[in-house]
Amino acid sequence: MRDEQKYLTIALTKGRLASQTLELLEKAGFYCEEMKEHGTRKLIFVNEDQKLKFFLAKGPDVPTYVEQGAADLGVVGSDIIMEENRRVYEVLDLGFGRCRMCVCGPESALPLLQHHEMIRVASKYPMIAREYFYNKKHQTVDIIKLNGSVELGPIVGLSDVIVDIVETGGTLKANGMGVLETICDLSARMIVNQVSMQMQTQRIRDMIDRVRNAMTEEKDK
Ligand code: PRP
Repeated sequence: MRDEQKYLTIALTKGRLASQTLELLEKAGFYCEEMKEHGTRKLIFVNEDQKLKFFLAKGPDVPTYVEQGAADLGVVGSDIIMEENRRVYEVLDLGFGRCRMCVCGPESALPLLQHHEMIRVASKYPMIAREYFYNKKHQTVDIIKLNGSVELGPIVGLSDVIVDIVETGGTLKANGMGVLETICDLSARMIVNQVSMQMQTQRIRDMIDRVRNAMTEEKDK
């Protein structure tokens, strides 16, 4: 089968990143009208003209689909790329979804961090928390995995601090907490399956170039 006749499958992250991703892809000339149908329960969307398929997945599953080759490309937050550590190529920083990964908690927890105390850390990102405390700070901590509403940890006494994403800081403020240490900056990234990159190099490179150009045009406006 010729390169152009195959579908290129793109996994998008459900939620906040999806609409910004579609907007950028449109600017780059890649369309997915089907996905805009209001209230649709469909999971996969096809653009026959451009031979593109799109599907929406939970963030942590996007690198899995891409690593396994069920999607050729994916768009996902760099937090998830770090946490999942999958064998995929990270090819482009898309510049949106900007936020920070931070150690957060009540001010009273600051001395515990400064004195490298044995503390309890709640997080949706146990790998990132482990890497930061064990390998970067050389602080022994107890990491507790949660699946959301992580700010509850210090409030109900489950943990001393949390490792979580901070965007506006509104959630922390509303819960009497703040940023105690910043781990790294985050943003949406494009990832590519390693075999697809070899087999469909031209088509994927072209897509990356067009998306990159669309980002530059946007910046220059
Ligand atoms: C994320 C994150 C924080 C919040 C940060 O949670 O875990 O709770 O957003 O945003 P802010 O700094 O603008 O307040 P999300 O809404 O994804 O839900 P979750 O708590 O279920 O993970």
